[in-house]
Amino acid sequence: MIHLLDCKVLSNDEVAPGHRRLVLDGKAIAEDTCAGQFCMLESSPGLQPFLRRPMSIERFGGDSFSVLYKIVGEGTRLLGRIQPGDTVNVQGPLGNGFSIPKEFKRYILVGGGIGIAPLPGLAQALIRETGTPPEVILAARSRDILLCQEDFTRMNCPVFLVTDDGSAGMHGFASNALEARKPDKNTLVYTCGPMIMMGAVHRICMENGSRCQASLEANMACGDGVCMGCVVETTLQEEFRRMVRVCHEGPVFDSRDIRWNTGTPAHD
Ligand SMILES: Cc1cc2nc3c(=O)[nH]c(=O)nc-3n(C[C@H](O)[C@H](O)[C@H](O)COP(=O)(O)OP(=O)(O)OC[C@H]3O[C@@H](n4cnc5c(N)ncnc54)[C@H](O)[C@@H]3O)c2cc1C
Ligand code: FES
Repeated sequence: MIHLLDCKVLSNDEVAPGHRRLVLDGKAIAEDTCAGQFCMLESSPGLQPFLRRPMSIERFGGDSFSVLYKIVGEGTRLLGRIQPGDTVNVQGPLGNGFSIPKEFKRYILVGGGIGIAPLPGLAQALIRETGTPPEVILAARSRDILLCQEDFTRMNCPVFLVTDDGSAGMHGFASNALEARKPDKNTLVYTCGPMIMMGAVHRICMENGSRCQASLEANMACGDGVCMGCVVETTLQEEFRRMVRVCHEGPVFDSRDIRWNTGTPAHD
C-alpha cells in the first residue's frame, strides 16, 4: 500500500563527503516496504522545488526507515539542511523492488557509488530468505566515498572493494571485480549504480550465463506511473512493453529486458 506521510526526522547525519543518511519516523512505510522500493520526498515544505525527489529506501523496520543520499542539486542540498525534529512529507513505498528466486546457489550484490543505497536492505532480505549472506561488490571513485561497508560486514557478507583510482581494494571498475568473482549460471547478480556500470555488469552476466536484476534511475516527476517522464527502452517485442516506466514497472528489471546500448545481445 502506498502512503503519504508527514515523517519526523530522527537524524540526518553526514556519512561521507557530500553524502548523508536521513532517518525518518514512519511506521506505515517501514512496515509495507520491500527491498528495492523507493519513496518520493518533499525536499522542503511549499512549492519550491515543486517536484518531489525519488530516493531508494535503504533500511526499514520497526517504526522507521532511512534514505542514503548524495548532494547533487537543489533538492538534495535542501534535504541536507533538514534537522532532527523537522518534518518531511514522503510518498511511498513505490515501485516493484527486488525479487528473490530461491533456485540460485550464489547471490552477488554490485553497488556503484550512491547506487549502493537499496542494497543493505536487500542483503538483509536475502539472509532472511536464503539463510546465507550474499557476496557484495562495493564500487566507488575513491576510498572516502565507499558507502555501507560496515553495514555489510556486520551482516557477515563477504565484501570486495573496488575503486576507480585504486585507493581501496581492487583498482578498476565494478564489472572487473564481478568478473574476478567468476559468476556462473547458478549466480544471480543484483546491481544498482550508474547506467554505464550496470550495462557492463549486464554484459559480464550474459557472458557467464548468470542472471541479473538491475535497479534503474530516471528523472521522475510523479513517481507513480502517470506522467510518462521516466520511460526507458526495452528489448521486448510486444508493442505495449517496448517502453516501460521506471517508477511503475521498475525500478528493478531483469537486465535482459533493458536496451543497454552496449552492443551485448540481451536475451539468450
Ligand atoms: C528510483 C530512484 C531511486 C533513487 N535513489 C536514490 C538514492 O537512494 N540516493 C540518492 O542520492 N539518489 C537517488 N536517486 C537519484 C535522486 O533522485 C537524484 O539525485 C535527485 O532527484 C537529485 O535531486 P536534486 O534536486 O538535488 O538535483 P537536480 O539535478 O537539481 O534535480 C533532479 C532532477 O529533477 C528534475 N528537476 C529539477 N528541477 C526541475 C524543474 N524545475 N522542472 C523539471 N524538472 C526538474 C530534473 O530532471 C533533475 O534531473 C534515485 C532516483 C531514482 C529514480
Ligand atoms: S515518474 Fe511519472 S510515470 Fe514515472
